[in-house]
Amino acid sequence: MKMLAVWFFILAGTCYSFCSSEDHLRNMDSFISAIEQVEDSNPVLSPLALLRSLRRTAGHEDPLTLHFLGASNNLSQTYTSVLDNTLFSFFDKAIHHYVTDLGEERGVVLTPDGTTVAIAPLLLGIEVGLKAREQDTPPLGMVPLTLAKNLGLSFLSLQDFPAAHRLGPGGCWDNLTHPRVFQLSRLPTLATDALVNGGMDGAILGMDLASLPRFEQPGKLSGLLKGYYNHVLEGEELGDITHHTSRRRRDIAQALLGPLCTQRQLMETLHLVWRLEGTQWIAWDTGVEKAVGEGVLEFVHRYWDCPPIISRCQWGAAPYRSQPYPLALPLPFLYIHHTDQPDKPCQSFQQCSMNMKAMQRFHQDVRHWDDIAYNFVVGSDGYIYEGRGWNHRGSHTRGQNSYSYGVAFIGNYSSSLPSRHVLELVRRRLIKCAVDGGRLQANYTLHGHRQLVATSCPGDTLFSEISGWEHFRVRQGSVL
Ligand SMILES: *[C@@H]1O[C@H](CO)[C@@H](O)[C@H](O)[C@H]1NC(C)=O
Ligand SMILES: *[C@@H]1O[C@H](CO)[C@@H](O)[C@H](O)[C@H]1NC(C)=O
Ligand SMILES: *[C@@H]1O[C@H](CO)[C@@H](O)[C@H](O)[C@H]1NC(C)=O
Ligand SMILES: *[C@@H]1O[C@H](CO)[C@@H](O)[C@H](O)[C@H]1NC(C)=O
Repeated sequence: MKMLAVWFFILAGTCYSFCSSEDHLRNMDSFISAIEQVEDSNPVLSPLALLRSLRRTAGHEDPLTLHFLGASNNLSQTYTSVLDNTLFSFFDKAIHHYVTDLGEERGVVLTPDGTTVAIAPLLLGIEVGLKAREQDTPPLGMVPLTLAKNLGLSFLSLQDFPAAHRLGPGGCWDNLTHPRVFQLSRLPTLATDALVNGGMDGAILGMDLASLPRFEQPGKLSGLLKGYYNHVLEGEELGDITHHTSRRRRDIAQALLGPLCTQRQLMETLHLVWRLEGTQWIAWDTGVEKAVGEGVLEFVHRYWDCPPIISRCQWGAAPYRSQPYPLALPLPFLYIHHTDQPDKPCQSFQQCSMNMKAMQRFHQDVRHWDDIAYNFVVGSDGYIYEGRGWNHRGSHTRGQNSYSYGVAFIGNYSSSLPSRHVLELVRRRLIKCAVDGGRLQANYTLHGHRQLVATSCPGDTLFSEISGWEHFRVRQGSVL
Protein backbone atom coordinates (compact mmCIF):
# COMPACT_ATOMS: atom_id res chain seq x y z
CA MET A 1 0.00 0.00 0.00
CA LYS A 2 2.65 2.45 1.08
CA MET A 3 4.68 1.76 -2.07
CA LEU A 4 1.70 2.72 -4.22
CA ALA A 5 1.22 5.92 -2.29
CA VAL A 6 4.80 6.93 -3.06
CA TRP A 7 4.38 6.10 -6.70
CA PHE A 8 1.49 8.50 -7.01
CA PHE A 9 3.20 11.11 -4.91
CA ILE A 10 6.00 11.18 -7.45
CA LEU A 11 3.69 11.13 -10.42
CA ALA A 12 1.88 14.17 -9.11
CA GLY A 13 4.90 16.15 -10.30
CA THR A 14 4.79 14.74 -13.81
CA CYS A 15 4.47 16.29 -17.22
CA TYR A 16 4.04 19.93 -17.92
CA SER A 17 5.25 21.61 -21.07
CA PHE A 18 8.57 19.74 -21.15
CA CYS A 19 7.23 16.26 -21.75
CA SER A 20 6.98 16.53 -25.48
CA SER A 21 9.73 18.81 -26.79
CA GLU A 22 12.97 17.63 -28.42
CA ASP A 23 15.52 15.53 -26.54
CA HIS A 24 18.64 16.96 -24.96
CA LEU A 25 21.70 15.00 -23.99
CA ARG A 26 21.48 14.38 -20.31
CA ASN A 27 25.07 14.70 -19.25
CA MET A 28 26.84 17.13 -16.97
CA ASP A 29 28.82 18.64 -19.85
CA SER A 30 25.64 19.74 -21.65
CA PHE A 31 24.29 21.17 -18.43
CA ILE A 32 27.49 23.13 -17.80
CA SER A 33 27.52 24.41 -21.40
CA ALA A 34 24.01 25.74 -20.98
CA ILE A 35 25.02 27.47 -17.75
CA GLU A 36 28.01 29.01 -19.56
CA GLN A 37 25.71 30.27 -22.27
CA VAL A 38 23.64 32.13 -19.68
CA GLU A 39 26.74 33.47 -17.94
CA ASP A 40 28.27 34.67 -21.19
CA SER A 41 25.16 36.54 -22.25
CA ASN A 42 24.64 38.08 -18.78
CA PRO A 43 28.12 39.10 -17.61
CA VAL A 44 26.87 41.03 -14.58
CA LEU A 45 24.64 38.26 -13.29
CA SER A 46 25.88 37.03 -9.90
CA PRO A 47 26.03 33.27 -9.29
CA LEU A 48 23.40 33.65 -6.59
CA ALA A 49 21.02 35.48 -8.93
CA LEU A 50 21.57 32.81 -11.56
CA LEU A 51 20.75 30.06 -9.07
CA ARG A 52 17.57 31.86 -8.04
CA SER A 53 16.54 32.10 -11.68
CA LEU A 54 17.16 28.40 -12.15
CA ARG A 55 15.19 27.60 -9.02
CA ARG A 56 12.31 29.64 -10.33
CA THR A 57 12.50 27.89 -13.68
CA ALA A 58 12.25 24.54 -11.97
CA GLY A 59 9.42 25.73 -9.73
CA HIS A 60 11.17 24.85 -6.47
CA GLU A 61 8.94 26.86 -4.21
CA ASP A 62 7.98 24.26 -1.64
CA PRO A 63 7.59 25.51 1.96
CA LEU A 64 10.92 24.14 3.18
CA THR A 65 12.86 25.79 0.36
CA LEU A 66 11.04 29.09 0.90
CA HIS A 67 11.70 28.85 4.62
CA PHE A 68 15.46 28.65 4.16
CA LEU A 69 16.04 30.44 0.87
CA GLY A 70 13.20 32.89 0.48
CA ALA A 71 11.22 33.43 -2.68
CA SER A 72 13.16 33.20 -5.90
CA ASN A 73 11.33 36.00 -7.64
CA ASN A 74 11.84 39.17 -5.60
CA LEU A 75 15.02 40.18 -7.37
CA SER A 76 15.64 43.10 -9.64
CA GLN A 77 16.87 40.76 -12.36
CA THR A 78 13.96 38.50 -13.01
CA TYR A 79 14.33 35.12 -14.57
CA THR A 80 12.55 36.02 -17.77
CA SER A 81 15.24 38.44 -18.75
CA VAL A 82 17.90 35.84 -18.03
CA LEU A 83 16.58 32.86 -19.91
CA ASP A 84 15.23 32.80 -23.43
CA ASN A 85 12.64 30.21 -24.36
CA THR A 86 15.01 27.50 -25.56
CA LEU A 87 17.14 27.73 -22.45
CA PHE A 88 14.09 27.92 -20.26
CA SER A 89 12.85 24.67 -21.72
CA PHE A 90 16.30 23.09 -21.38
CA PHE A 91 16.65 24.02 -17.70
CA ASP A 92 13.07 23.14 -16.97
CA LYS A 93 13.78 19.59 -18.20
CA ALA A 94 17.25 19.37 -16.72
CA ILE A 95 16.31 20.43 -13.19
CA HIS A 96 12.76 19.25 -12.60
CA HIS A 97 13.05 15.92 -10.81
CA TYR A 98 10.40 13.21 -11.18
CA VAL A 99 9.95 9.60 -12.19
CA THR A 100 7.64 8.69 -15.07
CA ASP A 101 5.12 5.89 -14.76
CA LEU A 102 7.48 3.75 -16.85
CA GLY A 103 10.20 4.11 -14.23
CA GLU A 104 12.30 6.64 -16.11
CA GLU A 105 14.02 9.15 -13.82
CA ARG A 106 14.13 12.74 -15.09
CA GLY A 107 16.04 15.74 -13.80
CA VAL A 108 19.23 13.69 -13.56
CA VAL A 109 22.46 13.78 -15.59
CA LEU A 110 25.38 11.44 -16.22
CA THR A 111 28.64 12.90 -14.87
CA PRO A 112 32.09 12.34 -16.43
CA ASP A 113 33.03 9.91 -13.65
CA GLY A 114 30.16 7.57 -14.53
CA THR A 115 27.76 8.40 -11.71
CA THR A 116 24.31 9.91 -12.09
CA VAL A 117 23.19 12.95 -10.09
CA ALA A 118 19.93 14.84 -9.68
CA ILE A 119 20.41 18.52 -10.45
CA ALA A 120 17.79 19.95 -8.06
CA PRO A 121 19.44 19.10 -4.71
CA LEU A 122 22.84 19.97 -6.21
CA LEU A 123 21.69 23.50 -7.02
CA LEU A 124 19.87 23.94 -3.70
CA GLY A 125 23.07 23.15 -1.78
CA ILE A 126 25.07 25.61 -3.84
CA GLU A 127 22.42 28.30 -3.35
CA VAL A 128 22.43 27.78 0.42
CA GLY A 129 26.22 28.18 0.41
CA LEU A 130 26.20 31.32 -1.70
CA LYS A 131 23.44 32.90 0.33
CA ALA A 132 25.26 32.17 3.59
CA ARG A 133 28.40 33.73 2.21
CA GLU A 134 26.64 36.79 0.91
CA GLN A 135 24.79 37.40 4.17
CA ASP A 136 27.61 36.23 6.40
CA THR A 137 25.45 33.69 8.20
CA PRO A 138 25.86 29.93 8.78
CA PRO A 139 24.61 27.80 5.84
CA LEU A 140 21.18 27.24 7.36
CA GLY A 141 19.10 24.56 5.68
CA MET A 142 22.05 22.88 3.98
CA VAL A 143 21.38 19.34 5.13
CA PRO A 144 17.56 19.61 5.24
CA LEU A 145 17.39 20.86 1.64
CA THR A 146 20.02 18.60 0.10
CA LEU A 147 19.47 15.31 1.91
CA ALA A 148 17.46 15.22 5.11
CA LYS A 149 14.04 15.97 3.67
CA ASN A 150 14.30 13.40 0.88
CA LEU A 151 15.72 10.77 3.21
CA GLY A 152 13.24 11.42 6.00
CA LEU A 153 10.20 11.30 3.72
CA SER A 154 11.49 8.19 1.98
CA PHE A 155 12.06 6.30 5.25
CA LEU A 156 8.67 7.38 6.46
CA SER A 157 6.66 6.55 3.35
CA LEU A 158 8.17 3.06 3.09
CA GLN A 159 8.26 2.15 6.76
CA ASP A 160 6.42 -1.13 6.14
CA PHE A 161 9.20 -2.30 3.82
CA PRO A 162 12.65 -3.62 4.80
CA ALA A 163 15.10 -0.77 5.40
CA ALA A 164 17.10 -1.70 2.30
CA HIS A 165 14.03 -0.87 0.16
CA ARG A 166 13.61 2.63 1.55
CA LEU A 167 16.55 3.98 -0.47
CA GLY A 168 17.57 4.01 -4.13
CA PRO A 169 17.50 2.53 -6.63
CA GLY A 170 20.10 3.35 -9.26
CA GLY A 171 19.50 2.74 -12.92
CA CYS A 172 20.92 2.42 -16.41
CA TRP A 173 21.43 4.94 -19.22
CA ASP A 174 20.28 4.01 -22.72
CA ASN A 175 23.61 5.11 -24.23
CA LEU A 176 26.74 6.12 -22.33
CA THR A 177 28.14 8.55 -24.90
CA HIS A 178 24.74 10.00 -25.81
CA PRO A 179 22.65 9.59 -22.66
CA ARG A 180 18.97 10.41 -23.08
CA VAL A 181 16.95 7.99 -20.97
CA PHE A 182 17.74 6.88 -17.42
CA GLN A 183 15.75 3.80 -16.48
CA LEU A 184 15.50 2.89 -12.80
CA SER A 185 16.21 -0.71 -11.87
CA ARG A 186 13.15 -1.09 -9.62
CA LEU A 187 10.34 0.97 -8.07
CA PRO A 188 11.61 4.38 -7.01
CA THR A 189 11.79 5.71 -3.46
CA LEU A 190 11.83 9.40 -2.59
CA ALA A 191 15.62 9.09 -2.16
CA THR A 192 16.91 7.57 -5.40
CA ASP A 193 20.67 7.11 -5.78
CA ALA A 194 20.76 10.14 -8.08
CA LEU A 195 18.97 12.32 -5.50
CA VAL A 196 21.38 11.17 -2.81
CA ASN A 197 24.43 11.78 -5.05
CA GLY A 198 23.14 15.22 -6.05
CA GLY A 199 22.38 15.99 -2.40
CA MET A 200 25.89 15.06 -1.28
CA ASP A 201 27.43 17.09 -4.09
CA GLY A 202 25.23 20.09 -3.35
CA ALA A 203 26.13 19.98 0.34
CA ILE A 204 29.87 19.58 -0.37
CA LEU A 205 29.98 22.47 -2.86
CA GLY A 206 27.68 24.62 -0.74
CA MET A 207 29.77 24.13 2.40
CA ASP A 208 32.90 24.97 0.39
CA LEU A 209 31.31 28.23 -0.75
CA ALA A 210 30.02 29.11 2.69
CA SER A 211 33.50 28.75 4.14
CA LEU A 212 35.30 30.67 1.39
CA PRO A 213 37.49 33.40 2.93
CA ARG A 214 35.89 36.86 2.80
CA PHE A 215 38.44 38.24 0.35
CA GLU A 216 37.81 35.47 -2.19
CA GLN A 217 34.98 36.02 -4.65
CA PRO A 218 32.96 32.90 -5.50
CA GLY A 219 33.70 32.12 -9.16
CA LYS A 220 31.16 31.38 -11.84
CA LEU A 221 28.75 28.49 -11.38
CA SER A 222 30.08 26.80 -14.54
CA GLY A 223 33.64 26.97 -13.21
CA LEU A 224 32.60 25.54 -9.87
CA LEU A 225 30.85 22.58 -11.53
CA LYS A 226 33.72 21.94 -13.94
CA GLY A 227 36.28 21.91 -11.15
CA TYR A 228 34.24 19.41 -9.19
CA TYR A 229 33.01 17.08 -11.94
CA ASN A 230 35.66 17.30 -14.65
CA HIS A 231 38.77 16.90 -12.56
CA VAL A 232 41.27 14.87 -14.63
CA LEU A 233 43.86 12.78 -12.80
CA GLU A 234 47.21 13.40 -14.44
CA GLY A 235 49.88 11.38 -12.73
CA GLU A 236 48.65 12.46 -9.30
CA GLU A 237 46.83 10.05 -7.03
CA LEU A 238 43.26 10.46 -5.95
CA GLY A 239 44.23 10.34 -2.29
CA ASP A 240 46.58 13.32 -2.72
CA ILE A 241 44.08 15.75 -4.21
CA THR A 242 42.98 18.26 -1.63
CA HIS A 243 40.59 19.82 -4.10
CA HIS A 244 37.04 18.46 -3.74
CA THR A 245 35.95 16.25 -6.64
CA SER A 246 32.90 14.10 -7.33
CA ARG A 247 35.08 10.97 -7.46
CA ARG A 248 35.61 11.33 -3.72
CA ARG A 249 32.04 12.34 -2.96
CA ARG A 250 31.54 9.62 -0.37
CA ASP A 251 34.62 10.24 1.80
CA ILE A 252 34.18 13.99 1.68
CA ALA A 253 30.46 13.84 2.43
CA GLN A 254 31.00 11.41 5.28
CA ALA A 255 33.63 13.60 6.90
CA LEU A 256 31.65 16.80 6.35
CA LEU A 257 28.08 15.64 6.91
CA GLY A 258 28.45 12.59 9.14
CA PRO A 259 27.56 14.47 12.34
CA LEU A 260 24.68 16.26 10.57
CA CYS A 261 22.92 13.23 9.09
CA THR A 262 21.68 11.59 12.26
CA GLN A 263 18.28 10.33 13.34
CA ARG A 264 17.81 13.47 15.45
CA GLN A 265 18.64 15.82 12.59
CA LEU A 266 16.33 14.00 10.20
CA MET A 267 13.50 14.10 12.75
CA GLU A 268 14.02 17.85 13.20
CA THR A 269 13.76 18.34 9.45
CA LEU A 270 10.57 16.28 9.31
CA HIS A 271 9.03 18.24 12.19
CA LEU A 272 9.87 21.46 10.38
CA VAL A 273 8.33 20.20 7.12
CA TRP A 274 5.15 19.16 8.93
CA ARG A 275 4.94 22.47 10.75
CA LEU A 276 5.40 24.45 7.52
CA GLU A 277 2.87 22.32 5.70
CA GLY A 278 0.42 22.18 8.60
CA THR A 279 0.54 18.39 8.77
CA GLN A 280 1.83 17.93 12.34
CA TRP A 281 -0.58 15.04 12.86
CA ILE A 282 1.88 12.81 10.96
CA ALA A 283 4.15 12.99 14.02
CA TRP A 284 1.54 11.05 16.01
CA ASP A 285 2.58 7.94 14.12
CA THR A 286 4.69 6.17 16.68
CA GLY A 287 6.56 4.26 14.00
CA VAL A 288 8.22 7.39 12.62
CA GLU A 289 11.25 7.54 14.94
CA LYS A 290 11.98 3.86 14.44
CA ALA A 291 11.65 4.09 10.66
CA VAL A 292 13.99 7.07 10.55
CA GLY A 293 16.51 5.44 12.91
CA GLU A 294 16.68 2.26 10.81
CA GLY A 295 16.77 4.31 7.66
CA VAL A 296 19.80 6.31 8.81
CA LEU A 297 21.73 3.10 9.56
CA GLU A 298 20.91 1.78 6.11
CA PHE A 299 21.89 5.11 4.54
CA VAL A 300 25.28 5.09 6.27
CA HIS A 301 25.91 1.49 5.22
CA ARG A 302 24.86 1.99 1.65
CA TYR A 303 26.32 5.37 0.72
CA TRP A 304 29.19 5.88 3.15
CA ASP A 305 30.58 2.55 4.33
CA CYS A 306 30.17 0.83 0.96
CA PRO A 307 32.45 2.06 -1.82
CA PRO A 308 30.89 3.56 -4.93
CA ILE A 309 30.30 0.72 -7.37
CA ILE A 310 29.89 1.22 -11.12
CA SER A 311 27.26 -1.32 -12.10
CA ARG A 312 27.45 -3.52 -15.17
CA CYS A 313 25.13 -1.44 -17.27
CA GLN A 314 27.10 1.70 -16.40
CA TRP A 315 30.34 0.35 -17.86
CA GLY A 316 28.55 -1.23 -20.82
CA ALA A 317 28.86 -4.94 -19.97
CA ALA A 318 27.78 -7.56 -22.49
CA PRO A 319 25.14 -9.97 -21.16
CA TYR A 320 26.10 -12.99 -19.09
CA ARG A 321 26.25 -16.11 -21.28
CA SER A 322 23.90 -18.92 -20.20
CA GLN A 323 22.60 -18.92 -16.60
CA PRO A 324 24.50 -17.33 -13.70
CA TYR A 325 25.11 -19.66 -10.75
CA PRO A 326 23.91 -18.20 -7.43
CA LEU A 327 26.30 -18.03 -4.48
CA ALA A 328 25.23 -19.21 -0.99
CA LEU A 329 25.88 -16.13 1.19
CA PRO A 330 27.64 -15.22 3.39
CA LEU A 331 30.87 -16.57 1.89
CA PRO A 332 33.91 -17.59 3.96
CA PHE A 333 36.68 -16.43 1.57
CA LEU A 334 37.85 -13.43 -0.42
CA TYR A 335 40.73 -13.69 -2.90
CA ILE A 336 42.79 -10.81 -4.16
CA HIS A 337 44.00 -10.68 -7.76
CA HIS A 338 45.68 -8.24 -10.07
CA THR A 339 44.67 -8.18 -13.72
CA ASP A 340 48.27 -8.14 -15.05
CA GLN A 341 46.71 -7.30 -18.40
CA PRO A 342 45.69 -4.45 -18.55
CA ASP A 343 48.99 -3.68 -16.84
CA LYS A 344 48.38 0.02 -16.15
CA PRO A 345 46.03 1.38 -13.53
CA CYS A 346 43.05 3.12 -15.15
CA GLN A 347 42.39 6.66 -13.95
CA SER A 348 39.14 7.63 -15.62
CA PHE A 349 35.68 6.20 -16.08
CA GLN A 350 36.27 5.94 -19.83
CA GLN A 351 39.56 4.09 -19.45
CA CYS A 352 38.32 1.75 -16.73
CA SER A 353 35.14 0.94 -18.68
CA MET A 354 37.23 0.15 -21.74
CA ASN A 355 39.42 -2.16 -19.65
CA MET A 356 36.35 -3.88 -18.25
CA LYS A 357 34.92 -4.47 -21.70
CA ALA A 358 38.25 -5.78 -23.03
CA MET A 359 38.60 -8.22 -20.12
CA GLN A 360 35.03 -9.39 -20.48
CA ARG A 361 35.53 -10.02 -24.21
CA PHE A 362 38.72 -11.93 -23.53
CA HIS A 363 37.15 -14.06 -20.81
CA GLN A 364 34.03 -14.78 -22.84
CA ASP A 365 35.48 -15.21 -26.33
CA VAL A 366 38.97 -16.62 -25.69
CA ARG A 367 38.61 -18.36 -22.34
CA HIS A 368 35.01 -19.37 -23.10
CA TRP A 369 33.79 -18.41 -19.65
CA ASP A 370 30.26 -17.15 -19.17
CA ASP A 371 31.40 -13.70 -18.10
CA ILE A 372 34.25 -11.59 -16.79
CA ALA A 373 36.09 -13.74 -14.21
CA TYR A 374 35.97 -11.50 -11.12
CA ASN A 375 33.17 -10.52 -8.80
CA PHE A 376 34.59 -7.00 -8.51
CA VAL A 377 37.33 -5.06 -10.24
CA VAL A 378 39.11 -2.07 -8.73
CA GLY A 379 39.91 0.98 -10.85
CA SER A 380 42.29 3.76 -9.87
CA ASP A 381 39.63 6.34 -10.67
CA GLY A 382 37.99 6.08 -7.27
CA TYR A 383 35.45 3.42 -8.26
CA ILE A 384 34.92 -0.30 -7.97
CA TYR A 385 33.49 -1.95 -11.06
CA GLU A 386 30.88 -4.67 -10.79
CA GLY A 387 31.92 -7.91 -12.47
CA ARG A 388 29.74 -10.86 -11.49
CA GLY A 389 28.74 -8.94 -8.40
CA TRP A 390 27.66 -10.09 -4.94
CA ASN A 391 25.34 -12.87 -5.95
CA HIS A 392 26.91 -14.83 -8.80
CA ARG A 393 29.75 -17.30 -8.84
CA GLY A 394 32.86 -16.07 -10.65
CA SER A 395 35.68 -17.96 -12.40
CA HIS A 396 38.64 -16.31 -10.73
CA THR A 397 40.25 -19.02 -8.60
CA ARG A 398 40.15 -22.63 -9.77
CA GLY A 399 38.24 -24.93 -7.43
CA GLN A 400 37.27 -22.10 -5.04
CA ASN A 401 34.74 -20.04 -6.91
CA SER A 402 31.66 -21.28 -5.08
CA TYR A 403 33.06 -20.24 -1.69
CA SER A 404 34.75 -16.97 -2.45
CA TYR A 405 34.65 -13.52 -3.94
CA GLY A 406 37.40 -12.65 -6.42
CA VAL A 407 38.47 -9.01 -6.33
CA ALA A 408 41.00 -7.81 -8.92
CA PHE A 409 42.98 -4.58 -9.01
CA ILE A 410 43.45 -3.32 -12.58
CA GLY A 411 47.20 -3.17 -13.25
CA ASN A 412 50.41 -5.17 -12.81
CA TYR A 413 51.50 -5.05 -9.18
CA SER A 414 54.66 -7.17 -9.39
CA SER A 415 56.84 -4.25 -8.49
CA SER A 416 54.50 -1.40 -7.58
CA LEU A 417 51.33 -0.85 -5.57
CA PRO A 418 47.96 0.68 -6.29
CA SER A 419 47.66 4.06 -4.58
CA ARG A 420 46.85 4.12 -0.88
CA HIS A 421 43.38 5.50 -1.60
CA VAL A 422 42.63 2.62 -3.97
CA LEU A 423 43.91 0.01 -1.51
CA GLU A 424 41.77 1.49 1.25
CA LEU A 425 38.73 1.37 -1.01
CA VAL A 426 38.96 -2.42 -0.82
CA ARG A 427 40.47 -2.89 2.62
CA ARG A 428 38.22 -0.48 4.52
CA ARG A 429 35.15 -0.15 2.36
CA LEU A 430 34.42 -3.07 0.05
CA ILE A 431 35.18 -5.65 2.72
CA LYS A 432 33.25 -3.83 5.44
CA CYS A 433 30.37 -3.41 3.01
CA ALA A 434 30.44 -7.15 2.28
CA VAL A 435 30.50 -8.16 5.96
CA ASP A 436 27.88 -5.64 7.13
CA GLY A 437 25.67 -6.50 4.17
CA GLY A 438 25.69 -10.21 5.08
CA ARG A 439 27.66 -11.24 1.99
CA LEU A 440 30.94 -12.20 3.63
CA GLN A 441 31.22 -14.02 6.99
CA ALA A 442 32.52 -11.83 9.79
CA ASN A 443 35.34 -14.33 10.32
CA TYR A 444 36.22 -14.47 6.60
CA THR A 445 39.67 -15.43 5.36
CA LEU A 446 41.63 -13.31 2.89
CA HIS A 447 44.12 -14.90 0.50
CA GLY A 448 46.09 -13.88 -2.55
CA HIS A 449 45.37 -15.85 -5.73
CA ARG A 450 48.87 -17.44 -5.60
CA GLN A 451 48.09 -19.20 -2.33
CA LEU A 452 45.62 -21.46 -4.14
CA VAL A 453 46.86 -21.75 -7.71
CA ALA A 454 50.36 -21.75 -9.23
CA THR A 455 50.51 -18.12 -10.40
CA SER A 456 52.39 -14.95 -9.58
CA CYS A 457 49.04 -13.15 -9.15
CA PRO A 458 48.41 -10.72 -7.42
CA GLY A 459 52.05 -9.66 -8.01
CA ASP A 460 54.86 -9.68 -5.43
CA THR A 461 54.35 -6.18 -4.14
CA LEU A 462 50.57 -6.36 -3.83
CA PHE A 463 50.82 -9.80 -2.25
CA SER A 464 53.21 -8.53 0.36
CA GLU A 465 50.85 -5.60 1.03
CA ILE A 466 47.78 -7.76 1.60
CA SER A 467 49.70 -10.17 3.84
CA GLY A 468 49.54 -7.36 6.39
CA TRP A 469 45.76 -6.96 6.11
CA GLU A 470 43.25 -8.11 8.72
CA HIS A 471 42.02 -11.67 8.14
CA PHE A 472 44.94 -12.58 5.86
CA ARG A 473 45.86 -16.20 6.60
CA VAL A 474 48.73 -18.44 5.67
CA ARG A 475 47.27 -21.59 4.16
CA GLN A 476 47.74 -24.80 6.09
CA GLY A 477 50.12 -27.15 4.32
CA SER A 478 51.33 -24.31 2.10
CA VAL A 479 54.75 -22.73 2.18
CA LEU A 480 53.26 -19.24 1.92
C1 LIG B 1 12.71 38.67 -0.68
O1 LIG B 1 11.66 38.99 0.18
C2 LIG B 1 11.86 38.63 1.53
C3 LIG B 1 10.61 38.94 2.29
O2 LIG B 1 10.07 40.16 1.92
C4 LIG B 1 13.08 39.32 2.09
O3 LIG B 1 13.30 38.93 3.42
C5 LIG B 1 14.27 38.99 1.25
O4 LIG B 1 15.40 39.65 1.70
C6 LIG B 1 13.97 39.35 -0.21
N1 LIG B 1 15.09 39.09 -1.06
C7 LIG B 1 15.56 37.91 -1.35
C8 LIG B 1 16.70 37.92 -2.30
O5 LIG B 1 15.10 36.87 -0.94
C1 LIG C 1 25.05 6.01 -28.84
O1 LIG C 1 24.52 7.04 -29.62
C2 LIG C 1 25.37 7.44 -30.69
C3 LIG C 1 24.74 8.67 -31.35
O2 LIG C 1 23.38 8.49 -31.54
C4 LIG C 1 25.54 6.28 -31.65
O3 LIG C 1 26.42 6.66 -32.70
C5 LIG C 1 26.12 5.09 -30.89
O4 LIG C 1 26.21 3.98 -31.74
C6 LIG C 1 25.27 4.76 -29.68
N1 LIG C 1 25.93 3.73 -28.92
C7 LIG C 1 25.33 2.63 -28.56
C8 LIG C 1 26.13 1.67 -27.75
O5 LIG C 1 24.18 2.40 -28.87
C1 LIG D 1 54.42 -7.25 -14.82
O1 LIG D 1 55.55 -6.64 -14.26
C2 LIG D 1 56.65 -7.50 -14.11
C3 LIG D 1 57.77 -6.78 -13.36
O2 LIG D 1 57.66 -5.41 -13.44
C4 LIG D 1 57.11 -7.99 -15.46
O3 LIG D 1 58.18 -8.91 -15.33
C5 LIG D 1 55.91 -8.70 -16.15
O4 LIG D 1 56.28 -9.10 -17.45
C6 LIG D 1 54.72 -7.77 -16.20
N1 LIG D 1 53.58 -8.49 -16.74
C7 LIG D 1 53.01 -8.15 -17.87
C8 LIG D 1 51.88 -8.99 -18.33
O5 LIG D 1 53.38 -7.17 -18.52
C1 LIG E 1 33.03 -18.65 10.88
O1 LIG E 1 31.72 -18.45 11.36
C2 LIG E 1 30.79 -19.40 10.91
C3 LIG E 1 29.41 -19.04 11.39
O2 LIG E 1 29.34 -17.76 11.86
C4 LIG E 1 31.18 -20.78 11.43
O3 LIG E 1 30.26 -21.74 10.96
C5 LIG E 1 32.57 -21.11 10.92
O4 LIG E 1 33.01 -22.33 11.45
C6 LIG E 1 33.57 -20.02 11.29
N1 LIG E 1 34.80 -20.29 10.59
C7 LIG E 1 35.99 -20.15 11.14
C8 LIG E 1 37.18 -20.43 10.28
O5 LIG E 1 36.13 -19.83 12.32
